[in-house]
Amino acid sequence: MPAETKADTPALAIARFDKALHDRSAFSCGFGPIDNFLKSSLSDQIKAGMVTAWIATAGDDPAVLGFYTLGAMAVRAHLGPKKWQYAGVPDIPVIYLRAVAVREDKQGVGLGTALVIDALKRCLEIADRMGAAAIALDVLHDDHFDRRWKFYAELGFQPLSDPKNPYRVFIPMADVRASLG
Ligand SMILES: CC(C)(COP(=O)(O)OP(=O)(O)OC[C@H]1O[C@@H](n2cnc3c(N)ncnc32)[C@H](O)[C@@H]1OP(=O)(O)O)[C@@H](O)C(=O)NCCC(=O)NCCS
Repeated sequence: MPAETKADTPALAIARFDKALHDRSAFSCGFGPIDNFLKSSLSDQIKAGMVTAWIATAGDDPAVLGFYTLGAMAVRAHLGPKKWQYAGVPDIPVIYLRAVAVREDKQGVGLGTALVIDALKRCLEIADRMGAAAIALDVLHDDHFDRRWKFYAELGFQPLSDPKNPYRVFIPMADVRASLG
């Protein structure tokens, strides 16, 4: 798997989080819990093997402009498409995309979309080596929920209809492969 990929914007790089290289101090996306996660919990979660994190920077500036994390998760088979229900297993392996966020002054110019597309491509590479039938995430629920929901729907995510996680959406890996593979 390449450690670094270029997104569409010139000079923008998305690379694996390195605490010695990436400056998180000024990052604020407008949603406090995500900022705190980046600054306070991320390193511990990486050390514990729970997530990998991918960071957007521009040129030589080490300031974090945006990020996302990936981890493994299982989804109850009966909540998903018929294919999952016929598989004869209770749980379906998926990749969980958590905490997609863009620095407030960089929002609205396509960086969030570039980060999610980078995540989808990375998940495809992972799914070539380890079973993962879909990518799932929970859409944050606050005053901006409708905009977020639209953002993910336009990228191809659909509701999972999980009563315990009502804002969980997913995109089948086959759909990602068909559009980006
Ligand atoms: C959601 C987010 C990652 C989108 O990044 P972005 O770079 O602004 O996105 P893009 O420029 O590629 O696309 C713009 C779309 O993102 C969504 N969006 C933009 N700003 C947003 C905000 N403050 N809150 C929620 N969604 C937003 C909208 O759907 C917007 O489309 P619109 O302008 O037609 O309404 C970014 O706004 C953000 O970091 N928000 C705060 C943290 C967050 O909500 N993370 C999502 C966790 S589920």
